[in-house]
Amino acid sequence: MNQKNSSTSAPIIRQRRNADISEAAESLVEVHATDGYPVEGVDQPEAWLTPPGLIQAWVAELDGHIVGHVAISRSNGEEAVSLWLKHGQGIEEKTAVMARLFVIRGARKSSIGERLVGAATEYAEQKGVRLVLDVMAKDMAAIRLYERLGWQKLGPTTHTYGDGDRTDAVCYVSPMASAA
Ligand SMILES: CC(C)(COP(=O)(O)OP(=O)(O)OC[C@H]1O[C@@H](n2cnc3c(N)ncnc32)[C@H](O)[C@@H]1OP(=O)(O)O)[C@@H](O)C(=O)NCCC(=O)NCCS
Repeated sequence: MNQKNSSTSAPIIRQRRNADISEAAESLVEVHATDGYPVEGVDQPEAWLTPPGLIQAWVAELDGHIVGHVAISRSNGEEAVSLWLKHGQGIEEKTAVMARLFVIRGARKSSIGERLVGAATEYAEQKGVRLVLDVMAKDMAAIRLYERLGWQKLGPTTHTYGDGDRTDAVCYVSPMASAA
C-alpha cells in the first residue's frame, strides 16, 4: 500500500488478529521488493507469517493499515537456540524465537520497529521466556535496532535457503528482564 511517512496519527501496536494476515502479507511482499527480506522470497506470504509453533504475533497499524509485524515461535532446531543453550544460561522450554519483523519503508524511522520488538520482549518477560533470533548480516537497520535495544550477540551462523543458497547471519539473545 506504500504508506507514506506523512501520517499525523500515532501508530498502534497490537496483537495480530486472523483478519490482519492478508494485509500483513501485502506489506511483507512490499518489504521483499524494497529490502529483499526475507531472502527466501515471498511465494506464500500468508503461510510464512504463520509458521509452525507460532506463539504470538503483533502488528503495527497506521491510519487503519498494517505497516509492520513481528512474531514469536517455539524453538524448532534454530541455530540461535543452540548457541543460547550452549551458553549455559537458558533451557529450551524457556526459549522462544523472535522472527518475521518488518516495517514497510514508508513507515520507518518512527520507532515502530522498536515498539514491535518491545511488545514481543515484554510478552516474553511476562511468560518468563528468553527470546533469540537470527538476522542476516546484510540487514543492517535491524542489527542496529537489536543492538540499540540491548540484545546480546551470540555468534555467527549461515542461513541456508532455496536451492542451497547461503548467506551470513548473526544470532542474538534478548536483554535480561529488567528488575521489577
Ligand atoms: C529493521 C526494521 C524493522 C526497523 O524498523 P523501523 O520502524 O524503521 O525501526 P525504528 O524506527 O525503531 O528505528 C530505525 C531508525 O529510526 C530512528 N528513529 C526512530 N524514531 C525516530 C524519529 N522520531 N526521528 C528520527 N529517527 C528516528 C532510530 O534511531 C533508528 O535509527 P538507525 O537505523 O540509524 O539506528 C526495518 O528497517 C525493516 O523492516 N527492515 C527490513 C526487514 C528486516 O531487515 N527485518 C529484520 C528481520 S531479522
